Amino acid sequence: MFPDQRPRRLRTSPAMRRLVAETTVRPSQLVLPMFVKEGATEPVPVATMPGVVQHSRESLRKAAVEAVEAGVGGLMLFGVPQHKDAVGSGGCDPNGVLNLALRDLRSELGDETVLMSDLCLDEFTDHGHCGVLDASGRVDNDATLEIYGRMAVAQAEAGAHLLGPSGMMDGQVAAVRAALEEAGFTDTGILAYSAKYSSAFYGPFRDAMESSLQGDRRTYQQDPANLREALREVRLDLDEGADMVMVKPAMLYLDVVHAVAEIADVPVAAYQISGEYAMIEAAAAGGWCDRRTAILESLSSIRRAGADIVLTYWAVEASAWLR
Ligand code: PBG
Repeated sequence: MFPDQRPRRLRTSPAMRRLVAETTVRPSQLVLPMFVKEGATEPVPVATMPGVVQHSRESLRKAAVEAVEAGVGGLMLFGVPQHKDAVGSGGCDPNGVLNLALRDLRSELGDETVLMSDLCLDEFTDHGHCGVLDASGRVDNDATLEIYGRMAVAQAEAGAHLLGPSGMMDGQVAAVRAALEEAGFTDTGILAYSAKYSSAFYGPFRDAMESSLQGDRRTYQQDPANLREALREVRLDLDEGADMVMVKPAMLYLDVVHAVAEIADVPVAAYQISGEYAMIEAAAAGGWCDRRTAILESLSSIRRAGADIVLTYWAVEASAWLR
């Protein structure tokens, strides 16, 4: 027995534990991803993500105001269009669902929150890939970059503060930055999905997006086996002008979050994705873990690994607990 070596002294009461907590989670560090569905007149529940809905433009507006009142740090918008085509035209169309929703929220909220938008074609293409296809059916990197540039300008015009290129095309940050500069949007930032893995845990999200994807995204999203490659992706994005970098998924890739936080000199975000959300919801619904404790533990762990910002479908609920 070494009476002078008792770490448990620092765990004796809630007040003591609060005093010595090394990691904190603040509502301002949480970003709420939201879905808006073209033509919806009321919120449509997403079956695989209990508690998450596809919003109508009207319900989105209301939910966004509530989220900002709850103290969340930002909102990340995804659009679910009614019509899709081979080149994802809806993404660049100023009257496309995502751009309309951005306009709604910017006029409602101004600069009160940080408005972010997913910058990717998968929502808008009929084949469901994140880019356009060449004659042989492969995702054409450089042809896609040209569209990302136009989509970026459309989103900036619609009022997004931060654009989130999530398609994992090579050179996407540089292409988006160049297009924004050329159009005069020098203050519109880029939250780069730098290390985005090809994950089975995106399943519920693809349900929420009514994704038409056949096959997989392994020729552009990263192999779960690789860490060093993630650091290369981050370095490239930083060279190309990323204002923030992101790792996705979060919980299964905490080693990547940690390694990225060590090398990045910009804020690091991590996306707690749909499958990570659904797993905890399912376990809690089954009575296999305590829901609130599990959610807070998951957020704490993502922060502990080194994320400054966490995208999470629990952003509003967790903010209420953390206030
Ligand atoms: C693709 C995109 C994905 C997610 C957000 N944007 C993944 C994909 O379908 O490959 C996943 C988000 C989630 O699972 O919560 N643009």
